[in-house]
Amino acid sequence: MSPRPPRAAKPIPFPAVHRDIRHDSAPLHVAGTARYVDDMPDAAGLLHVALGQSEKAHARILSIDLSTVRAYPGVVAVLTAADIPGMNDVGPVVPDDPIFAENLVEYVGQCLFAVAAETRHAARAAARLAKVEYEELPAIISIADARAADSHILPPKRVERGDPDGALASAPHSLSGTLAMGGQDHFYLEGQISMATPGEDGDMHILCSTQHPSEVQHLVARALGRPDHNVVVEVRRMGGGFGGKETQASLFAACAALVADRTGRPAKLRLDRDDDMVMTGKRHDFEVAYKAGFDDAGRILALDITLESRCGMSTDLSGAINDRAIFHADNCYFLPNVRITSYRYKTHTVSNTAFRGFGGPQGMLAIEGVVDDIAQHLGLDPLAVRRVNFYGGPGRDVTPFGMKVEDFIADSLFDRLEASSHYQARRTAIAAFNAASPVLKRGIACTPVKFGISFTTSFLNQAGALVHVYTDGSVLLNHGGTEMGQGLYTKVSQVVADVFGIGLDRVRISATRTDKVPNTSATAASAGADLNGMASFNAARTIRDRLAVFQAARWGVAPGDLSFANGFVTAGDKAISFEDLTRQAYLARVSLSATGFYATPKIDVDKETLIGRPFYYFAYGAAVSEVVIDTLTGETKLLGVDILHDCGTSLNPVLDRGQVEGAYIQGMGWLTMEELVFDAAGRLRTHAPSTYKIPGCGDVPDHFKVDLINQPNREETIHRSKAVGEPPFMLAISAYHAIKHAVAASGGTGAVKLDAPATPERVLVAVRARRGLMP
Ligand code: MTE
Ligand code: MOS
Repeated sequence: MSPRPPRAAKPIPFPAVHRDIRHDSAPLHVAGTARYVDDMPDAAGLLHVALGQSEKAHARILSIDLSTVRAYPGVVAVLTAADIPGMNDVGPVVPDDPIFAENLVEYVGQCLFAVAAETRHAARAAARLAKVEYEELPAIISIADARAADSHILPPKRVERGDPDGALASAPHSLSGTLAMGGQDHFYLEGQISMATPGEDGDMHILCSTQHPSEVQHLVARALGRPDHNVVVEVRRMGGGFGGKETQASLFAACAALVADRTGRPAKLRLDRDDDMVMTGKRHDFEVAYKAGFDDAGRILALDITLESRCGMSTDLSGAINDRAIFHADNCYFLPNVRITSYRYKTHTVSNTAFRGFGGPQGMLAIEGVVDDIAQHLGLDPLAVRRVNFYGGPGRDVTPFGMKVEDFIADSLFDRLEASSHYQARRTAIAAFNAASPVLKRGIACTPVKFGISFTTSFLNQAGALVHVYTDGSVLLNHGGTEMGQGLYTKVSQVVADVFGIGLDRVRISATRTDKVPNTSATAASAGADLNGMASFNAARTIRDRLAVFQAARWGVAPGDLSFANGFVTAGDKAISFEDLTRQAYLARVSLSATGFYATPKIDVDKETLIGRPFYYFAYGAAVSEVVIDTLTGETKLLGVDILHDCGTSLNPVLDRGQVEGAYIQGMGWLTMEELVFDAAGRLRTHAPSTYKIPGCGDVPDHFKVDLINQPNREETIHRSKAVGEPPFMLAISAYHAIKHAVAASGGTGAVKLDAPATPERVLVAVRARRGLMP
């Protein structure tokens, strides 16, 4: 690691928004000088923490003998449930997530105790030496197990409109089908980590890799039995979160803090990859069953669809995640008569959690599967069937949950992308290729995305910011959002620089800390820039307004006549540099510091019925993917991807393009290669990159064209931009359907049966089934 700072960036002129500006940490990332928690120099007396884990999926604990753990050389402390001064729980919504299991374990890998030692090696070695006696209980592992046992973590929910049964009975065509889709490990490059440092008089400072510093603060304080004001959580950046650090960092932060509190020494807990994969929740896997009624053009007249998910052993965020699956089970399609039923199953597996899209991808894949099945059944181009089902004008513009779709643009995106990607010509060429190629088969698909922006738990849609202007005219910015690689800090800095009319190099953003901006929401739901951008804008405006009043009086003009641009404040032919103005204002005792706040308007949804307006607006996109499959091995290759995506008027097009590319590839990993395998005993067998395959550089297609439409958001978001973090994840549904198209071309007729992820094994089985070769 080089102690020298990288070369200074070229100053970025005013205005900064809507410009391609690199990520603020990019030079540090490249130079290896961006600091993550594990890069902090070891404090004197630092202890290393490791966790003892359950070996059983469901069992009563009869006894735990920790004597050999305590006796291991270098071990300083061993903590169990009895050592927790406050509450033994880190459940984010419902208190059903024990820090240390007491009498019962409910998944393999569940935390039993913490070991603190002088070295990480000693802690990890000692943690394995516990002697635990279990009395095994019947374990519910899969969705099928849970369905059979009627095992629910939350009651089912249903959204219904019209007369689905009647419309099904009278529809000219009907079809039923099922689809299973797997979960997904977050595979952030930086695993879960926390370092807790005790202060005086009960204070605790925690460096943590989390998307939700406030929640970590509150849950750690509760575990320590102290008020929130004793605990400070600080996050400069994460090496990726993807939803996996929205609730799941708390357990590890709590264990580090409990050790630090007990021993009075700083304590660090860093999971290794295998433990991280075993101990932390994943994307929910789903099973879908549907009955659809439709006309000759494939227009859906009735749909009865059931979404069943594996939630794991505790509630975590499963309520909101499954709600969002319901909210996206229409995607871009008007469903006149519809019943959507959602089952949230309790299983004896790790508690599943947020993952990019937050249930949206699962709901969307379900309806896209229905539409594709209808198209194959009728022998139509799926693109045409998608188009006839799109939301339209009056009478076809209300979602199943009662929200009017006012901003629909998927139809025009589709038209533009169909033309720019040469979809029809390629489809014709693919048919010709397939007719002449017995082994390799190609496929193509175009799918749309409509993704709702806002937390569906309405109160979470709020944010705060803190802005200081120093007397040299430099600005220090702080807000409640966290940086996980998505470029939030850069975007918000651009917004603030423009308020003051100064260069971006004059604005420094500081680490997110719960003692600077309190009671924040997770950086999630893609709303980071919408919420924190607006809160920071409001804080900066407060200071700018004070400066304007002050300077206008000195010049004898109205404050509204002042303009802040290019580092100067001007009115007519009068001008003062921003630096000089701040110094003069300071001498005149004008406050140069302000907080800002923002709450998203217009949203309101009933928690129980899910009827209302959960979203401020929708973000849209469309993608065309082309693949080739090998019908002898089931291998697939992505040949080309064309994307048209809606970021409103982008705050920073180059960062947004990066989000679109990364999200597509991550979605493609979910749907084509990443496979989580739990055995019958509930053990995760794919807990390392050797057995869990994520996309690599070689999986990025040679042709990968991403265009942004750059059209203002009709709602008043920050500079009329749109959220981008999650929506493009679902563009990868096109890759999955392209594979189905190729499978269809290998023989047979009707709907293609292919569960996700479309691994070579599943593709091969699907091809052989089409060819009548399966038993
Ligand atoms: N991009 C990077 N590089 N790393 C991440 O961890 N998380 C995604 C998305 N993009 C993520 C990312 C998820 S799950 C969300 S909700 C958003 O970023 C959160 O950030 P935002 O609200 O600022 O878009
Ligand atoms: Mo993203 S799943 O909302 O953290």
